[in-house]
Amino acid sequence: MKVMPLARRCARKLAAVAVSLPVLAAGASGALAQGEVNIYSYREPQLIDPLLKAFTDKTGIKANVVYAAAGLNERLAAEGQNSPADLLFTVDAGRLSEAKDAGLTQAVDSSALKAAIPAQFRDPADNWFGLTMRSRVVYASKERVKQDAITYEELADPKWKGKLCIRSGQHVYNTSLIATMIAHKGEAATEAWLKGVKDNLAHKPAGGDREQARDIFSGKCDIALGNTYYMALMAKNEKNPEQKEWGAAIKPLFPNANDRGSHVNISGMALAKHAPNKANAMKLMEFLASEEAQGIYATANNEYPVNPKVQPSEIVQSWGKLKPDPLPLENIAKYRKKASELVDKVNFDAGPSS
Ligand SMILES: [Fe+2]
Repeated sequence: MKVMPLARRCARKLAAVAVSLPVLAAGASGALAQGEVNIYSYREPQLIDPLLKAFTDKTGIKANVVYAAAGLNERLAAEGQNSPADLLFTVDAGRLSEAKDAGLTQAVDSSALKAAIPAQFRDPADNWFGLTMRSRVVYASKERVKQDAITYEELADPKWKGKLCIRSGQHVYNTSLIATMIAHKGEAATEAWLKGVKDNLAHKPAGGDREQARDIFSGKCDIALGNTYYMALMAKNEKNPEQKEWGAAIKPLFPNANDRGSHVNISGMALAKHAPNKANAMKLMEFLASEEAQGIYATANNEYPVNPKVQPSEIVQSWGKLKPDPLPLENIAKYRKKASELVDKVNFDAGPSS
């Protein structure tokens, strides 16, 4: 696997095509690109490298990755039909839906993908497919929180006043959760809930999910919201061993385990609308959903495999059973803008009002 300057490569390829265009038949231009697949990825290289290596070892197809934290959708749109991208990898069902709605993706008809990925975790129109799942859970102080069950609704209960920590309400992890609250409870109830959550904050929302565990460790708060895989990242962090203490200070509570289930989101993939290497891209998509690749995801990333035949890693299993909220993930895309507006409306990121 090689991270390649795709823009340069694209220009080179286009130049080659332009020069030889008169003799190229439609099939021949496909042959030019045979043996590779090009990925635009919002997911960090270290998360996907082991999977791409396994794919290349198995198929001989070279995987080229352009990684960026932002702007890949815009790049795909600007490149249009000249785009060298075959696949888009990203986190969050909302972002995958956005790519679809912007006309940047195409449907994939694959019985292997449908068999491997439950319907809840893929687009009803087959434009995007989940690969891994994470839940947004409550990190609770092992020392100070006695209860072993909680609901998202309860985060607004005044009993937590001054005890709750969270990252910015505008972060996609939070707007996605708030979007599911809107889907379940309606806008007015969600606004009231959000105000209640805000009033319980220990301080202004700041940091990432791991910093909330840090603040529980240091006693600034008793509960926080965080994604599941960060608990593994803290527990195994040799580079920043202080994070092991943060992780050891908390226990996960899976919200709404006794009713609708806990909010889950996905990382996933979509086939680019103008994918030049469509057959190879589909091979990679099917590989990533296979038991082999899902097993690699489970151990490397400590996310939950979407393929129900594959078990989560040992540490993930040690947290207890996840019951995912069965709400179709397209609701996240549907209500995320509204969720973001509510965050602003209640002035969530200003922190507690009193
Ligand atoms: Fe994350």
